[in-house]
Amino acid sequence: MPQVSKAMGAPKKPTSSRRRAHSVASDGARALLRWFRRAARDLPWRRTLDPYAIWVSEIMLQQTQVKTVIPYYERWMSQLPDLEVLARTPIDEVLKLWQGLGYYSRARNLHLAAHAILANHEGQFPTNAEQILSLPGIGRYTAGAISSISFNEPQPILDGNVIRVMTRVHAIATDPKSRTAQAFLWKEAEAWVSAASRITPQHQAGLSGNCSALNQALMELGATICSPKAPQCHQCPLSSLCRAHQKGHELRYPKLPKRAASIARSVYAFVLQSVPRLWVGRRVVGGGANSGLWELPTIETPSGSQPQPIPEEMFRLWSGVERTKVCPLIRVKHSITKHRFETSAFVVKIPTRSRRQIEMLATRLGWKEARWMDASDRSRSPFAGAHAKIVLAWESRAHA
Ligand code: ADE
Repeated sequence: MPQVSKAMGAPKKPTSSRRRAHSVASDGARALLRWFRRAARDLPWRRTLDPYAIWVSEIMLQQTQVKTVIPYYERWMSQLPDLEVLARTPIDEVLKLWQGLGYYSRARNLHLAAHAILANHEGQFPTNAEQILSLPGIGRYTAGAISSISFNEPQPILDGNVIRVMTRVHAIATDPKSRTAQAFLWKEAEAWVSAASRITPQHQAGLSGNCSALNQALMELGATICSPKAPQCHQCPLSSLCRAHQKGHELRYPKLPKRAASIARSVYAFVLQSVPRLWVGRRVVGGGANSGLWELPTIETPSGSQPQPIPEEMFRLWSGVERTKVCPLIRVKHSITKHRFETSAFVVKIPTRSRRQIEMLATRLGWKEARWMDASDRSRSPFAGAHAKIVLAWESRAHA
């Protein structure tokens, strides 16, 4: 890793690699700013510099693709247009707006941080990166993104897209998550945004500054041109500076460690209906990925090549409810971290006399709260993503 070790060694005199890094940052920043003026996608969060809107978009964009985020962002901003409205909205309503986006702690932290801003910053979004960093759910990347995009501060950002661009430009052959590579990459990101701050701005005054544009341009380049598997180097404004491109080795960078193998999980979910109600429950907050969200009762079954248990048998043994029909409804696939779930949903009609027996299962399911929910209650309650899809499938079928 020549670039990393030299850059980290801090020799007294500028070495040729440090001189190169300096000129790459200023030439790169100039080329990127020019490119971004022409190529920036028109995304909804690019029509504002409001720090609240930028914050919401950056949190939604963590681990989530732009095309998935757009409708969520638009719905959120129309219903929770500012900090005050967010803070006074009950958390279940906030989670309902997040339903299906995953990693629900992001929504909980937005809510907590809105309260913190009202309590500690007189309702004004903090303008300095250090104060932004102290808010719940905000790490170095998000603090840099908000302060650079909204306030045009020369703060660096480093996410997956920026890592790919930087490791290719400098042909960094070490794991970009290693401490030395991280230190180098953050320093580089800082050098690029500082270089941008020294260039005469070419945008319409008041719209966006160079630091704002440079950081968004780095992410944009990583998302659209410098892609993981099929980089479009012939369209890239940095190709003449890019070491990986000069060697024809773009796909060797970033050198990511092998991902842990995913784990297949197989689950039966039961839509227990006592029309017009369904029996659903929720675990305490802090009890796993979907904790605090409403869910259907589920049983984990053997996955892989083993024969699947017969749902009727499984339901009877689990619930003690006899002579019920168990009808297949839908199969839903979804992933949580490295777990790949396949959930097979079945509809079971529960006679009134068996409702008590069903209710006794709540403790075994780890639920702190359970109820027979009607349609209007369901439309207001936040469900785990896969379970929301199953309930929707049941509702569409019931009304078909
Ligand atoms: N990914 C993370 N932040 C982004 C942004 N502001 N625009 C586009 N993609 C992003």
